[in-house]
Order: sequence, then structure tokens, then C-alpha cells
Amino acid sequence: MQSLIADDEQANSAVSDQTNFLLPARMRRLRQSQAMRAMVRETHIRLEKLIYPFFVVAGSKIRKPISSMPGIFQLSLDNLVKEVEAAYIAGIRSVILFGIPENKDTEASGAWKQDGIVQVATRTLKSHFPDLLVVADTCLCEYMSHGHCGIVENGQILNDPSLVILARAAVSQAEAGADIIAPSDMMDGRIGIIRQALDEAGFAQTPIMAYSAKFASAFYGPFREAAESAPQFGDRTTYQMDPANAREALREIEQDIIEGADIVMVKPALPYLDVISRARAITDLPIAAYNVSGEYSMVKAAAANGWIDEKKVVLEALTSIFRAGADLVITYHAQDVATWLSRP
Ligand code: PBG
Repeated sequence: MQSLIADDEQANSAVSDQTNFLLPARMRRLRQSQAMRAMVRETHIRLEKLIYPFFVVAGSKIRKPISSMPGIFQLSLDNLVKEVEAAYIAGIRSVILFGIPENKDTEASGAWKQDGIVQVATRTLKSHFPDLLVVADTCLCEYMSHGHCGIVENGQILNDPSLVILARAAVSQAEAGADIIAPSDMMDGRIGIIRQALDEAGFAQTPIMAYSAKFASAFYGPFREAAESAPQFGDRTTYQMDPANAREALREIEQDIIEGADIVMVKPALPYLDVISRARAITDLPIAAYNVSGEYSMVKAAAANGWIDEKKVVLEALTSIFRAGADLVITYHAQDVATWLSRP
């Protein structure tokens, strides 16, 4: 094909003289109308792919706003049921629960007690909404006085002793009726131990969604206000991953698959789309992505200032997470998305 833009002069005269260039591709042909664009759209957001997080506290009539996460609240059981009902009516079919216990200790007893806050909330939700999927986040940090995700001795976060407690927590969550167990602690070997404990307790059919590639991220900041789970000393860098490491993330994912994970997760989502995409290339298991608190708060803050169009930004962000290769997304935007999708 003759070059039409060899130099400016030629390009200018071409513009005036000719109306029908022979271009190698006219990508705009398929962008002409809404119907045309919809027909060739590759990625879709579907409500059944979203998991909506909730923070549960003891007491009643509590609906305490989380200042860094506008629209998200700590809810007592009565209000949890109301909010979940609204989400259910809007079309949301899956929630993940985080508990804020009345008392914290050094053995995370609130994480594995029969009447622990998440166990009670799970029973209540399953009795009200039997076909709602209730995912239990299995971790110890919210229940530990020191705020770490494992047993602490002499300032060290111990791996193997923590596994025993994590397994106990997972079994008690399954006993309470949790449909999916989601360990988020990042201790080595926890998926295998939890799988074995669930099987032995009669929960061979309960799937594990492993927070496999969970990075030590500053994007969790607002969550720690919501869940009151900030570490009281140090940070989580000896168990959560270095944000710089993508190959190591694949090793974490491979390891969790070997140990029996049914779903693997990358967390956070937006700053780690490359990790999601690389995970997609190495496994055919479902991949979950956690669109975490900081990702949510940044959008909310910018939207509140009128700097961005919240609906468009959220839908674009979620689309990008799915496009990268995620099958399901945990997101605080779920309720808003449900509303937007039903009333476009
Ligand atoms: C518990 C846990 C955390 C998140 C999910 N489960 C916090 C952390 O690891 O400190 C973060 C979720 C979010 O930021 O939305 N270990």
C-alpha cells in the first residue's frame, strides 16, 4: 500500500484529495454504535461473580460507619441481616464475613469458638438466606490482642503452632454452615492442614478459597480500621509477600494447589493485574481477586471530591480485573454495582 503519511505535505494533500484510503485495518468499524460495541465486548461484569464483604460486631442496633470507607459499616447481627437482605434483593449471592470480637487474646479464641462472632453470623445468615453463599475469612489477626495472623512468641510470628489454631477456626466455621473457607493468614502449609482437618471433621465437600498470593500491602490500611486488626508491633512482612515478587506469587499459588485449594486468590487486585494474568496462564482453577479496602477508599475519596465519575471508574476497574483473568472478585463496591446493573 502506498504510504499516505510519508511527510506532512503529502499527508495534507491526501486529506483534501481523497476520501477513501486503503487502510490495513479499520478498527473503528466495530465501534460505531452501542449495539455493535456490545456485540463484540469481550469482558462482562456479572453479579454472581462478586463477593460482598461485611464486618460483624457484637451487640445490637449497631451500624457504625468506617470513616475511611464511606458506605461500609460495622454491623451488629440485626443490622447485618437487614443489609444482607438488601444486597440479596439487589442480586448479590455471595458475602464474605469478617468478625470484630468483644475480647481479643493471645490464642485467637474468638476465631474458633462455637459462639464466635463469625460463627453466629454465619448461622443466622444461612437460616435467613439458605442459598446465599457465605464465605468465612479464616484468619487470626482480628482475634489476637497483638493483631498478628499467628501465634506470637518473643516477638516472632510462629508458623506451625498457628496452623493448629487456623485449622480449628476453619472447622468451626464449616460447622456453623460456611459454604467456603478462605484462609487469609499466609502461614506456610495452612491449606494442606485445613483441608485435612475439614475432611476429618466431615466437611470433605467444603471448598477452600486460598488467599494464595497475598501481598504485604499498604492498600489494606482502611480495612484495619474496619476490622480493628492493625498489628500492635511490627508489620506483616515476614508472612505476607513482598510486592516486588511476581514469580514468587506463582510459587505460592502452585503450592496452595498442591495442598488442595479449590480457588486461588491474588490480593490486592488493581496494583497486581500482572500477577492475576500470570496466574491465569499457569492454572485452570478459578482465580479470585480481592479489590481491597484501599482501592475502594481511593475511588470513594476522588468521587466525593467530584474528581472522577464513580460509576464509570468502578465498572472500568472491575472490568480490568476480570479482563486480567479473574473469575470472581471480592469488592466493597458490590452493592453499588448491583444497583447500577439493574438500573443502567
Ligand atoms: C486478614 C485480612 C486482611 C484483609 C483481608 N483479610 C488484612 C490484613 O492482612 O492486614 C484486607 C482486606 C482489605 O484491605 O480490604 N488477614
